[in-house]
Amino acid sequence: MRLLRTLFCLSILSSRAFAEDTDLAGAQKVKHNYQSDVARLRKIVIDSLYSHQEIFIRELISNANDALEKLRLTALTDKSVWNGEPLNITIKAVKDEDGKGGRLIISDTGIGMSPEELTTNLGTLAKSGTSDFLAKAEGQDNTGTGNLIGAFGLGFYSSFLVADRVYVASVPPKSEKVPSPVQYVFSSSADDASFEIFPDPRGNTIGRGTEITLHLKPDATEYLDTTKITELINKHSSYSSSFPIYLFTQRTEDVPDEDAVEEPAATTPVAEGEATESPVDSETPQKDEDEAIVEDVTADEEKKADEPAPPKMKSVVVDEWVQLNAQPPLWTRDPKNVTTEEYEQFYNAFFKDFTKPLAWHHFSGDSGSGVSFKAILYLPAKIAEDYWQQPLASKSKDIKLMVKRVFITSDLGDDGLPKWASWVKVVVDADDLPLNVSRETLQSNRFLKQLKGIIIKRLIQTFTKIAEEDAEKFKEIQETYGSIFKLGAVEDLKNRDKLTSLTRFTTTQRNETSLDQYLENKKKGQKQIFYLAEMGKKPEDLAQSIFVEKLHARGYEVLLLTEPLDEILVGNLRQWKNIPFQDVAKAGLKFGDEELDPEEEKEQQKALTEKFKPLLDWLKVEAKDVVRDVVISNRLVKSPCAIVAEMGGYTANVQKMMTASNAKGNRGGILHDFALKAKSLEINPRSPLIEGLLRRVEDLPADEDEKDEEAEAELKEIASILIDGALVRSGFEVPDSNRFFSRVDRVLRRSLGVSETAPTDETVKPAPPVDPELPSEDDEQPPVQMPPMDEDDGKAKVIIPEHMKKDVSIEMEEIDEDGNPVVQHDEL
Ligand SMILES: *[C@@H]1O[C@H](CO)[C@@H](O)[C@H](O)[C@H]1NC(C)=O
Ligand SMILES: *[C@@H]1O[C@H](CO)[C@@H](O)[C@H](O)[C@H]1NC(C)=O
Ligand SMILES: *[C@@H]1O[C@H](CO)[C@@H](O)[C@H](O)[C@H]1NC(C)=O
Ligand SMILES: *[C@@H]1O[C@H](CO)[C@@H](O)[C@H](O)[C@H]1NC(C)=O
Repeated sequence: MRLLRTLFCLSILSSRAFAEDTDLAGAQKVKHNYQSDVARLRKIVIDSLYSHQEIFIRELISNANDALEKLRLTALTDKSVWNGEPLNITIKAVKDEDGKGGRLIISDTGIGMSPEELTTNLGTLAKSGTSDFLAKAEGQDNTGTGNLIGAFGLGFYSSFLVADRVYVASVPPKSEKVPSPVQYVFSSSADDASFEIFPDPRGNTIGRGTEITLHLKPDATEYLDTTKITELINKHSSYSSSFPIYLFTQRTEDVPDEDAVEEPAATTPVAEGEATESPVDSETPQKDEDEAIVEDVTADEEKKADEPAPPKMKSVVVDEWVQLNAQPPLWTRDPKNVTTEEYEQFYNAFFKDFTKPLAWHHFSGDSGSGVSFKAILYLPAKIAEDYWQQPLASKSKDIKLMVKRVFITSDLGDDGLPKWASWVKVVVDADDLPLNVSRETLQSNRFLKQLKGIIIKRLIQTFTKIAEEDAEKFKEIQETYGSIFKLGAVEDLKNRDKLTSLTRFTTTQRNETSLDQYLENKKKGQKQIFYLAEMGKKPEDLAQSIFVEKLHARGYEVLLLTEPLDEILVGNLRQWKNIPFQDVAKAGLKFGDEELDPEEEKEQQKALTEKFKPLLDWLKVEAKDVVRDVVISNRLVKSPCAIVAEMGGYTANVQKMMTASNAKGNRGGILHDFALKAKSLEINPRSPLIEGLLRRVEDLPADEDEKDEEAEAELKEIASILIDGALVRSGFEVPDSNRFFSRVDRVLRRSLGVSETAPTDETVKPAPPVDPELPSEDDEQPPVQMPPMDEDDGKAKVIIPEHMKKDVSIEMEEIDEDGNPVVQHDEL
């Protein structure tokens, strides 16, 4: 997407810069229309950044830097393009004669552009970039757009924020193919729908590179002020280029007046008078200074009359190129001596991200293979949205590798950082690599492999240090990086323990706990880490689940897993510090204190099983389509019953994910059917409802002859509602909701004393007869509102109605026999 950025460049100003009056009449101008998208974009940029005018300078310098970098990299393979003369960026402000307006000229000695490149790069845009930009620009406030235009390589258009008319003169380097390239000009005004391309009537004044001349709008003349320019560069761009940025300045200076010194009569008062009237002095307006000098001379004369008089002085205007980014690169400085603001400004300029970084780590080291380096690692405040769309397809783009302060590459090759860390922004400067090292040779270099390990180690250290030392900050970190830690713990086996230690969970007792803190809080005898998972639910709601009611009531802590990665993480970890995880919605739950009073406990359980046997047996038959077993529960307090997944069965959460991904079709039937039914119905022996049901079941006549069909049917209906209710309470869906509700209706009628069989009056007014006539055009019809269509890009897509977009996402996931999502490590 950085289509344009790479292409701008620039150069030194010849004495003949473009002025309004440059004679263009003779040039063969070719007029082009902007591609329509460019015209629209230019308008968006101008409108949305109106109050952020000043960013134009940052964008143009950034483009110039890219052009210089591109030249240097091209020269690695084609030496003919660059003979080694200095690469630089220059800025010159030229006031109009009338003193009102003026031009700002920004030049680089970079790669330059041919007329075709001028047309393509400044007049058209690749489609994908355009629609992305438009989509984002529309959803953003102005500052957001400010960040975006750089990212989309649209920086050049910000010129029109301050300029009525922009000339871009450019000439590519001499090469074997084109030994004498011609300098061309792109010219456009802020309002034009078209631009012109023509050979520069001044000839080749640049040598190589690009020169952008901005004819400033009347409200933008402040940018002619060198103090203002210096301030802006310091603020936005002092770290955005490793090439020198020079500003043209003029200052007046007092110098010895050679003509005056040669006059031998300078010691007499008469000569003094003559001197002040000399033609040289009359050229310089600073009378006061002249008088001061005269006084000094007089004073000296009184003291030491025979010494030669000091030379006469005069004021002259000195032209000077002042380097604005003269200080050494930030990463080479002593961290103790770098301020927070400097780190932040550097981050903004260097990584072109204009938000404040959350944290950074500045370090130096030795790779172990003899390469020493300095580096700064930054944690961005936000992880880009598209990262989370496909985290496993992400690639690190912002590891900027420099050699002796010169940018080499940000492409670490295919096996870059682990995916969980691909968002990290790092600048690394290695001292001991050859400058001419190419991207390809680098990728086979040991240093690069070691570097990846070093970055990951430092990154984890940075997080761990914050977690230990700054709770406030770590809260912020959790918001942005909480899911990253979980992804990392799943993906990165080598660092799994450290990353798992950084994860935080909500529990039934606390908003935030680490697994270690959970273990510190476990009860005597507790041999399981309890958790309950339901993706997308709020922890507060999950805490109301029947599965945690007894655990919670007894004071055990339960992890409430609501994020997509939580259950995957737990499934991968299986245990933490040798304590296994236990899904509290599954069989196998043990409090751990059962052994503390085993006899009593067992007696009690036995007595209950004995007492409820008739109900258990009866329910086993009634619930046979839904569960495999019915047992006395040890996990319920208030609720009468629950459906619990057995070891190999699906929990409600997994079953939902299965339905969503339609895994049944993919997985074949038997295992799936088994897992679907591998559930138990647990009943709460202390619930009055269950006790009541037991009594009714016991009352049923055992003898076939005495069968009370009606009472039995009624009881079956109640049981069926109870079972369906248990499904719903436990997060499952009822198999047939229509039947469920008609049963509920019948029970309601019964309790209201209404006849169960009395029919509802179902008569309705039938529709009028068939009428194939279509409405004529004259009939007034409200216009049909069609939803806007996305541009047809030829790709298959699923159209989701607007109101559903936020609820629906389409995902496929593979799961294993236990119903746990399968994570394929070898793909990570
Ligand atoms: C910039 O570089 C060019 C050569 O590439 C050189 O001629 C010019 O003097 C440099 N400008 C400054 C201000 O140093
Ligand atoms: C710190 O910076 C100041 C000025 O910026 C400089 O004078 C001083 O030498 C620096 N100290 C170190 C240790 O680099
Ligand atoms: C890089 O430069 C060194 C000498 O400075 C030379 O020996 C080496 O062959 C060069 N490598 C490449 C890839 O051009
Ligand atoms: C936990 O979070 C909830 C809502 O986010 C809040 O109301 C409550 O005060 C928090 N509790 C603690 C102990 O921080």
